[in-house]
Amino acid sequence: MTIDVVSIFPEYLAGLQLSLIGKAVDRGQLALNVRDLRDFTFDRHNTVDDSPYGGGAGMVMKAEPWALALEEILASRPGDVQAAQPSGGAQPTDGAQLIAGAKPTGGAKPTLIVPSPAGEVFDQRIAEDLASRQHLVFACGRYEGIDQRVIDWAGEHFELRPMSIGDYVLNGGEVASMVMIEAISRLIPGVIGNPESLTEESHEDGLLEYPIYTKPASWRGRDVPEILLSGNHAAIARWRRDRRLERTAEVRPDLLARLSDLSRDDQAALE
Ligand code: ADE
Repeated sequence: MTIDVVSIFPEYLAGLQLSLIGKAVDRGQLALNVRDLRDFTFDRHNTVDDSPYGGGAGMVMKAEPWALALEEILASRPGDVQAAQPSGGAQPTDGAQLIAGAKPTGGAKPTLIVPSPAGEVFDQRIAEDLASRQHLVFACGRYEGIDQRVIDWAGEHFELRPMSIGDYVLNGGEVASMVMIEAISRLIPGVIGNPESLTEESHEDGLLEYPIYTKPASWRGRDVPEILLSGNHAAIARWRRDRRLERTAEVRPDLLARLSDLSRDDQAALE
């Protein structure tokens, strides 16, 4: 998979080089390119924003730098839409700050994720769906957002996905993009060493995780539940499922309401 990110704060994304995602990049399972939007401006102040038509508070990100950045990303894909030449002035050179060499992917339209509190709410199901894509592009807006015309234009060249990470407002799309990139990239086959660790996680099957314990068996007067020391795998599996059901019913009854296939044992655990 190739992930391109465009931001006026490319340093924000440096954290992605750490840990599992950094290793996936080193192993060539993921190509991650971060571009600075200001590299696609040609005035002395590298202006990326202006006041909103119609008035109102805050600033709006200008269309042209976004179009140039996205065209450069499209042009890096052989066999895909040929990028239009920027209208007049200097041409951007290679604005990409390469964290790892991008592998051109070609084929289907790349997916453009525009983080926004007005987007569809991102969840594990969407992460799984996006993990199957060849090429994801994250457009990190700031200020009040991006001129709608470039979003509409991008919809002709990309699979457009405005995406919110929850019902609250952040200062920009960088942190939201990092959240989504982490959730998606850990689902790429081979990125997580032990794929079994993905199967019993919260949200994987609509239930929250069971509580977990490690040594010592007794800590400050609190003991690990005895059944976990029993060696009885079937009983442990049932105990864990019961705890998942209980926890979900208590903390996220909305998730439980969506489950249709609860067994009799499951229903007993909830009584
Ligand atoms: N940008 C600002 N707030 C956001 C949110 N909740 N989700 C995604 N992007 C955002």
